[in-house]
Amino acid sequence: MKTIRFGIIGCGLMGREFASAAARWAHLLDLKVRPSIVSICDKNTALYPWYRGNFASITQVTDDYKALLANPEVDAVYVAVPHNLHREIYTAVIAAGKHLMGEKPFGIDQEANRAILAACRRNPNVFVRCSSESPFFPAMQKVCALIESQSFGRIVEVNTGFLHSSDLDPNKPINWKRMIEFNGEYGVLGDLGMHALHVPFRSGWKPRNVRAILSDIVKERPDGKGGTAPCRTWDNGTLLCEALDPVDGEPFPMTVKLQRIAPGQRNTWYTEILGTRTSVRWASTNPRLLEVLRYTPGGDQAWEQIQTGYEPAFKTITGPIFEFGFTDSIQQMWAAFLHELDTGKPLHRFAGCVTPEETALSHRLFTAALESQRLAATIPLEE
Ligand SMILES: NC(=O)c1ccc[n+]([C@@H]2O[C@H](COP(=O)([O-])OP(=O)(O)OC[C@H]3O[C@@H](n4cnc5c(N)ncnc54)[C@H](O)[C@@H]3O)[C@@H](O)[C@H]2O)c1
Repeated sequence: MKTIRFGIIGCGLMGREFASAAARWAHLLDLKVRPSIVSICDKNTALYPWYRGNFASITQVTDDYKALLANPEVDAVYVAVPHNLHREIYTAVIAAGKHLMGEKPFGIDQEANRAILAACRRNPNVFVRCSSESPFFPAMQKVCALIESQSFGRIVEVNTGFLHSSDLDPNKPINWKRMIEFNGEYGVLGDLGMHALHVPFRSGWKPRNVRAILSDIVKERPDGKGGTAPCRTWDNGTLLCEALDPVDGEPFPMTVKLQRIAPGQRNTWYTEILGTRTSVRWASTNPRLLEVLRYTPGGDQAWEQIQTGYEPAFKTITGPIFEFGFTDSIQQMWAAFLHELDTGKPLHRFAGCVTPEETALSHRLFTAALESQRLAATIPLEE
């Protein structure tokens, strides 16, 4: 088994999710490659003991990402830091010749994203991908298989989104994710958008234009020090796009709903594809359940309810009757990253992580969405 030695820059919520997935790598079968975490970097030293206590493989702990990048023992780096640091740190990782898994939105804005893609072009031997885990749920993998087999007929409509309610409570203190200088002007679009767009983009459903309505619902929050702070990031966004299906060249409407204030939703990814031959719908509120409607002209319209099981893209020790969850999707995503790094190609089209080019498309969409909101108009996407 080949080992890829990893550094983690940004050891918070997502850094720990990666470390935890790496710690139970024995869960995966048939993979010829595994990660080993050898170096960690964070400004917050309070995070170090959890890593030190759980990973004997760590030989470097630093608060300076440049020291991590200078370490010849590090082959690849996962960067999970606030969005204002993406450009500086991602370009430095790529320039250091280390493979990179970066977090979305892959640059705080389009200019930052362009700089990261330019660094990729200058270093074509570095493998670079962006994190997004929801397509790795088994039900979504089944949806992807239907896309792959062109089962939908003419696409009537696609509705996709990510809804949660972590900001419904106005008394929740502000953090960097709600501050424009760290999170960016995109707000919720940059935070949640890639999750909803990964499968559409991989399917080749490129938006031609967008009409966006963005909402700033909670305008100030407790600052955690007894006062209040302005909260100027967009909380919710609804995007109506005209997309093109590369299979038949026909346009269709695609809605992308991204909400941090979605009453009743805990952390819901959803996808609905309506087609003249087949339609599907799935939401992570009931992650097992995949609904499929297969239509033959003149026949009945009946939604089948399929209980998907633990049947992910990358085989594991868990039997198919069991439940699959968020942490499993994270591990599958990491299996996809390492498999593609090792073999040069994804296991299949929809078992691959988001490419830098797909992040660039998301930035074109989000930038157009901001303009659409400003002008209250439909904005074409630049090529
Ligand atoms: N894929 C997902 O499901 C998902 C979920 C949440 C967040 N994210 C993304 O992950 C990234 C990080 O989010 P998070 O939730 O882990 O945030 P977090 O605040 O929990 O962690 C970020 C960490 O970066 C550290 N940091 C800040 N400046 C640093 C510097 N100069 N050098 C080293 N470390 C530094 C902070 O101390 C903190 O520990 C963001 O891009 C976010 O959009 C992805």
